[in-house]
Amino acid sequence: MGVTRFNMEAWLDRTNLVVCVGAGGVGKTTTAATLGLCGALRGRRVMVLTIDPARRLANSLGLKNIGNEQTQIDLEALGLSTDGELWAMMLDSRSTFDGLITRVSPDEVSRDRILNNHVYRHMADTFAGSQDYMATETLYDLVDSGSYDLIVLDTPPVKNALDFLESPGRLINFMDERVLRWFLHPYDANAVFGGKLMMGTSAVVFRLLAYVFGRDFLEDLATFFQDFQGLYEGFVARNDAVVKLFRDPGTSFVTICAPTESSLDVAVFFQEELKRRELPRGGIIVNQVHTCEGEQHDAKEILGALTRTLSEDLSPNTAATLLARLGMAHRRLRALGQAEAALARRVRACGAGGGFYQEIPRLDGNVHDLESLHEVGRRLLVPADVL
Ligand SMILES: Nc1ncnc2c1ncn2[C@@H]1O[C@H](COP(=O)(O)OP(=O)(O)O)[C@@H](O)[C@H]1O
Ligand SMILES: [Mg+2]
Repeated sequence: MGVTRFNMEAWLDRTNLVVCVGAGGVGKTTTAATLGLCGALRGRRVMVLTIDPARRLANSLGLKNIGNEQTQIDLEALGLSTDGELWAMMLDSRSTFDGLITRVSPDEVSRDRILNNHVYRHMADTFAGSQDYMATETLYDLVDSGSYDLIVLDTPPVKNALDFLESPGRLINFMDERVLRWFLHPYDANAVFGGKLMMGTSAVVFRLLAYVFGRDFLEDLATFFQDFQGLYEGFVARNDAVVKLFRDPGTSFVTICAPTESSLDVAVFFQEELKRRELPRGGIIVNQVHTCEGEQHDAKEILGALTRTLSEDLSPNTAATLLARLGMAHRRLRALGQAEAALARRVRACGAGGGFYQEIPRLDGNVHDLESLHEVGRRLLVPADVL
């Protein structure tokens, strides 16, 4: 009986959302783009939502100056025919946040009031800086649009994985009803700050704040919270939908790492988090591994034959030196491969029961165009180990 293999093609075909997680610099964006390309070549309508594509990759995909517009990528250059489509979009946090306000606002008046509010502008800057939060917001809209069969989400290289997984709840927490109530309680359409209707602790606090920040600012703040109160339900609904989406059987969290200790540490951490949160684990990809393509464990004979052939033109001494050097290079590469495999063992063990385990070799040169993505794809979609 042969060992059961994991069918990567079947997995990609049945998946609707892939969330790529892992440390920075390991090849998350590359993998996300590759999965997108593979999905499109398999006939699906795919959106790759990326955060920080390497400039050359972005350029060759036609993603230059596009902000957060959905852009279709021309696959013709590959010379492969497909009914599928590949779309990509770069996350632009600021316009995402404004767009979000626009969508959840009940009407144009309240929308404009919020967008022009000083407190909102300040808060938008703060939240816009948190790409992980904006990624989940954009994700919601993309799924909601129903335009895509498969969405591949490239996540920002967050130091703390929790940030990303918990990001949908963060705005809700910030907007917690109790906080809102605290701000809204002393505020009444007919009451102004410092007015006689303000009483109790909040009133004292408000008066102090007004003293520190000035009354204009506080009025802005109060208006802001008042307007936001009406949006609260919208945020909760979106949050619930994203949380549900993350747990959907059609969703796969794919952990990506390189065969380095630090990125494997991050991968182990993600695996533990995904397990703890009972989120669907798609599998683990170890990218940029060094491989000895051949099966030969001892290359002496082959290299010997090679040098004998070459030695028709070389002196025996040179041929012997060449043989020794090639032998040494082969042993080093094998040793490196073994060291990497030993490192990866820990993440494999920790990923047990969580989908596939796939390795992608380190290719010569960078991966920055459709052809090289396609090349990565050929290594990615072959049968994998079962975790
Ligand atoms: N398998 C690979 N072989 C060779 N180069 C790779 C491979 N995977 C990624 N790269 C290169 O490594 C760099 C980092 O990849 P990227 O996908 O941007 O990482 P991340 O998104 O995790 O920060 C890029 O220059 C990319 O071209
Ligand atoms: Mg990246």
